[in-house]
Amino acid sequence: MCVTIEKLSVENIEELIEIARDSWKWTYACIYSFEFINHWIDENYSRERLLNEITRAQSDRDIIFLGSFVKSKLVGFIELKTEADRAELLRLYLKPEYTHRGIGKLLLLEAEVIMKKKGIVQCRLLVHQKNNIGKSFYEKNGFEVKDIDADHIVMEKKLQSIKNI
Ligand SMILES: CC(C)(COP(=O)(O)OP(=O)(O)OC[C@H]1O[C@@H](n2cnc3c(N)ncnc32)[C@H](O)[C@@H]1OP(=O)(O)O)[C@@H](O)C(=O)NCCC(=O)NCCS
Repeated sequence: MCVTIEKLSVENIEELIEIARDSWKWTYACIYSFEFINHWIDENYSRERLLNEITRAQSDRDIIFLGSFVKSKLVGFIELKTEADRAELLRLYLKPEYTHRGIGKLLLLEAEVIMKKKGIVQCRLLVHQKNNIGKSFYEKNGFEVKDIDADHIVMEKKLQSIKNI
């Protein structure tokens, strides 16, 4: 399977919302109701918000927003917010039928290359305590548990900046 990782563009917004909705239903079915999930996606994946974040990412500002494509079709995405030498991984979601094939790792690795070039030395994220697939994926990719925040686990990974090399 040939997978490419590219910056997201405005044309990807509708596909991205559908992936987020499908992935949330697949991932959080035992945690949240479908009604809650649909409401969450409508609120947090509004077209206006995505347009703003994609635009910021395209001009290399404080957002990193990448998509994974198979035969030009979007199948997953990763989004991070950066501030000085820190980053927060906000979202990493794949179409359920494309999970467990190494695509999440590819997205994360590409994001890490960008972070290191920007001088980022620490990446943090929150993962739901009951999201065993997410937890196990992040642990296998070098994240360590740092804290518990209500229903979520705080994980962190140190990065080696290559900004001035
Ligand atoms: C988490 C996610 C992004 C990982 O990407 P991925 O391409 O599926 O993962 P990779 O193939 O790169 O890595 C494989 C590892 O991830 C975990 N994993 C991924 N998919 C899995 C699945 N369907 N069942 C069980 N474990 C799975 C396992 O730890 C696996 O390691 P293993 O091969 O030794 O079992 C993806 O599974 C996904 O979108 N999950 C749903 C959304 C989610 O939980 N996102 C994180 C929110 S914080």
